[in-house]
Amino acid sequence: MASLDTAALTEEMTRRDAADPLRHLRERFHVPAGMIYLAGNSLGPAPVAAFRDMEAAMRQEWAEGLVKSWNDAGWFALVGTLGDRLGRLIGAAPGQTVACDSVSVNIYKALHAALALRPGRNAIVAEGGSFPTDLYVAEGVVAGRPGLVLKLEGVDAARIEDLIDENTAAVLVNHVDYKTGALRDMAALTRLVHDKGAVVVWDLCHSAGVIPVDLDGAEADLAVGCTYKYLNCGPGAPAFIYAATRHHDALSQPLSGWWGHAAPFAFERGYRPAGGIQRLLCGTQPILSMRVLDAGLGAIEDVPLSALRAKSLALTDLFMELVEPACRARGATIVTPRDPATRGSQVSIAFENGFAVIQALIARGVIGDFRAPDTMRFGFAPAYLGYADVQRAAEAFNEVLTGGLWRDERYTKRRAVT
Ligand SMILES: Cc1ncc(COP(=O)(O)O)c(C=O)c1O
Repeated sequence: MASLDTAALTEEMTRRDAADPLRHLRERFHVPAGMIYLAGNSLGPAPVAAFRDMEAAMRQEWAEGLVKSWNDAGWFALVGTLGDRLGRLIGAAPGQTVACDSVSVNIYKALHAALALRPGRNAIVAEGGSFPTDLYVAEGVVAGRPGLVLKLEGVDAARIEDLIDENTAAVLVNHVDYKTGALRDMAALTRLVHDKGAVVVWDLCHSAGVIPVDLDGAEADLAVGCTYKYLNCGPGAPAFIYAATRHHDALSQPLSGWWGHAAPFAFERGYRPAGGIQRLLCGTQPILSMRVLDAGLGAIEDVPLSALRAKSLALTDLFMELVEPACRARGATIVTPRDPATRGSQVSIAFENGFAVIQALIARGVIGDFRAPDTMRFGFAPAYLGYADVQRAAEAFNEVLTGGLWRDERYTKRRAVT
């Protein structure tokens, strides 16, 4: 492929786009004209149906329906109805997933729930390279429970598998690493965690909606994830939390708010946890944000995740193939695994001046992002990206890197979000 000249490559990409069985999905999203959006692993684009839904949620449900809409528009039930729809995308049978709160808050609840399932054990195991919030929250949990320790892959042992033993209560692990894009074998690690008698909490932020996930099939215990990346449900959209049915009776979590009560509208004096997954809820949810989930999920849920996965792998393969020669020539390193079995839906490239490269690309309409200290991330969402987009992005990347176009004062200025 890399050996084809530009005209032949363009022809080949046009052919692939025309033959793409998922090409109709693109019109379900608003991708600004001329932009190649490779940051869907950070914030997905707006689903077109959300414009209509938000208008209805504001003008009819809120403005006209007011408080009646908690019942009439199904607001109160959204945590569960959307939870079950999310469940279908992550291999969870109904009644095990709720849409609520943020990932960070859900990790807090999940870790406490996991610890309560394994009393007498004194360790949480996690990845030293995890997304920071996972570790910050785990540290917060440990700080509040004397005797509990946090053991980290990459710090206390090279492999997470070697840290899990009879003292481990909970293993908090990412399905796909946010920085490198490496994908874990969920079934195998869950089995190992269970063999040691511990409970696993999966963070699905970088796999939900783009990789077939089978929580029930893997016999996972708990999971959390966001909806603003590959699920395209909007900035700060409600997250989700999953707990396997077999744990529900014994589940407990410290954010014992009224939405997790067995009878929230009985207004009883004491807390009595709800029977099922509702027990992991806390308080009133941001209904307007929640209303976007319908459109976000609706934009992909009629498509098999296996088809999205096949295209995602083809897109990431293509990008790596097209940028590899320039990377090699300029001392940049593709850190994402080449093996499809261990790769998520992004390509990460380490380069000392990666921040400036990303800024130069953004100036050319190719939007990626940067994670300190040196990682450029390019997310490939199969629902709205095509093969010609990948070609254009790779050409821009090669031009910026090879031509040193990133060496411009303009591309060094860092703002709050990178
Ligand atoms: C793996 C992972 N966990 C958690 C988060 C963020 O959590 P929150 O939604 O609470 O900000 C992210 C955000 O990018 C993430 O990549």
